Amino acid sequence: MNEKEIMNIESRYMANVFSKKPVVLTKGKGTLVWDINGKEYIDCTSSYGVALLGHCHPKVVAAVQAQAEQLISCHSGFYNDKRAEFIQKLVQITPKGLDKAFLSNSGAESVECAIKLARKYTGKPEIIALMGAFHGKTMGALSATWDKKYREPFMPLVPEIKHVAPDNAEKIREAITDKTAAVLMEPIRGEGGVRVPPDGYLKEVREICDEKNVLLMFDEVQTSFGRTGKLFGCQNWNVTPDVMCLAKPFAGGLPIGITVAKENVMSSLKLGEHSTTFSGSPLVCAAGCAAIDALLEEKLADKAAVNGKYFKSQLEGLQAKHKIIKEVRGLGLMLGVELRYDVLGVILKALGKGVLVLDAGRTVVRLLPPLVIEKTQIDKVIAVLDTVLGEEENERASSTVPN
Ligand SMILES: Cc1ncc(COP(=O)(O)O)c(C=O)c1O
Repeated sequence: MNEKEIMNIESRYMANVFSKKPVVLTKGKGTLVWDINGKEYIDCTSSYGVALLGHCHPKVVAAVQAQAEQLISCHSGFYNDKRAEFIQKLVQITPKGLDKAFLSNSGAESVECAIKLARKYTGKPEIIALMGAFHGKTMGALSATWDKKYREPFMPLVPEIKHVAPDNAEKIREAITDKTAAVLMEPIRGEGGVRVPPDGYLKEVREICDEKNVLLMFDEVQTSFGRTGKLFGCQNWNVTPDVMCLAKPFAGGLPIGITVAKENVMSSLKLGEHSTTFSGSPLVCAAGCAAIDALLEEKLADKAAVNGKYFKSQLEGLQAKHKIIKEVRGLGLMLGVELRYDVLGVILKALGKGVLVLDAGRTVVRLLPPLVIEKTQIDKVIAVLDTVLGEEENERASSTVPN
């Protein structure tokens, strides 16, 4: 099939719910991906925050190949060696006390489990989420997601999930009632524009939850696995939640969701009250073991801290040069560049010049590169963004010149 045929088939037969970029990607290695014509791109999307080890990490590839010949599927109704190995590796790196996990297949599923867990453990219905939050698009997760363009067509959603203004712990205190089970939040809001909370905020929220006897649940689907310079985003502020949602990178690129909780919280779920067919499949767990090994051996969290600082300082350099940039935000290799205008033009122009970047809302360019990105690659990305931002500014200036 050629490029055009592939695009036509996907457009014709897939639900039209993805905003597609005009490129057919067929190969990846480390931070690089290639399209069907052999053109190379620096991937600052990591497939939406999945390929944190880089694409096709050799350890993950070898683990998947070996496990595929051994046993691919095995329902959690039976024990399995790879699942046990994965769970053990996982709870060895999760923050202290979070050592009982439910395995699923996606970020949204990890949030679904957290919502059920909050209601089951506390016997209360209400969940407090933040304005600007993104937690996924299944009905429960969607109910906690903020953007009304995602929510409104599907009303009524799960009841008793309400949103409060972020970055102000008092708003959470005011919202808590005697029906509140949990506060659910991303430590850094990703889709909401890469918003890093003010220092002290998460700690204050933790204290309020303790005082009011309410669970604190962090959605770390985007902020974990070293992305922010620590293994888990919450460790930047030394705050440990009662429940944590994980997903994207934890199986080296294969689909996974993980809800990890304190033992007494997770144990409130009784036999049969939650499950899914693919929970902890051997193939995914084998990939997950290799992924956690690579993360630790290659010290990728430290690398993200160092390279993230460099990347951010270079972006700030662009801000000094291009008026179109309003703000540069982020932590580690989770970076956002807020523009004064819509970002689509920048994203498409960067693609044309061999750099893949994401959006986060209408005006934020989001950079989520693999944690293995090299300094020379960061320099290339900066050079491309420099050119592209200059072109955008020129176009805007010429379109506003009176005839
Ligand atoms: C913080 C957060 N939670 C949940 C999700 C949903 O994950 P998934 O798309 O795997 O369902 C995402 C996806 O981007 C996310 O960023």
